[in-house]
Amino acid sequence: MSRLGVLLSGRGSNFQAIAARVSAGEIPAEIAVVIANRPDAPGLDAARSLGLKAVSLPSKGLDRESYDRQLIATLKEHNVDWVILAGYMRILSAEFIRAFPQRILNIHPSLLPSFPGLDAQHQAFDYGVKISGCTVHFVDEHLDHGPIVMQAQVPVDPSDTAETLSAKILTQEHRIYSESLRRLFTEPWQIDGRRVVFI
Ligand code: GRF
Repeated sequence: MSRLGVLLSGRGSNFQAIAARVSAGEIPAEIAVVIANRPDAPGLDAARSLGLKAVSLPSKGLDRESYDRQLIATLKEHNVDWVILAGYMRILSAEFIRAFPQRILNIHPSLLPSFPGLDAQHQAFDYGVKISGCTVHFVDEHLDHGPIVMQAQVPVDPSDTAETLSAKILTQEHRIYSESLRRLFTEPWQIDGRRVVFI
């Protein structure tokens, strides 16, 4: 059974959606550890109250390489084989990416390659798009860039604000992140160039 290491920096609602489907037996995996780079991340408390191993590993003041070495060590200590980024607000070093080849996933709140980076929902709203959404993708050395596992679209209604749009996107994030994990752990797949192919 796959052992997941969840990295987060904040509220952790994607993590909680995944944890619910893991404990319902719908995702055949075990959450081995939840790590936050911010000690006050609410996601850490959520992990603790679910009885999961929760580790605070503050990144403040540390350079990327030395912090990532600590992260790798903590994940390896817990025998993690998949790294699940769930609102983890730091760029990963090349060394980190190499430590978990094709085993790091991220969720991004836009239809990539549109609107990478911070505040993607606001970027899309301000741009005036009629359709936005979210993307689950493998993580490579470029920001919000690796091969796409799943996407969901969210239409922008005339009455939407950036906040209501973000909330609708979040609902879809929770759905497709869990669903991506379920499929990756239960179906044969391969990465063919930029394409994730379920066979
Ligand atoms: C989500 O919008 C996710 O797409 C982005 O960061 C946010 C994290 O939210 N990467 P949560 O901590 O999972 O609630």
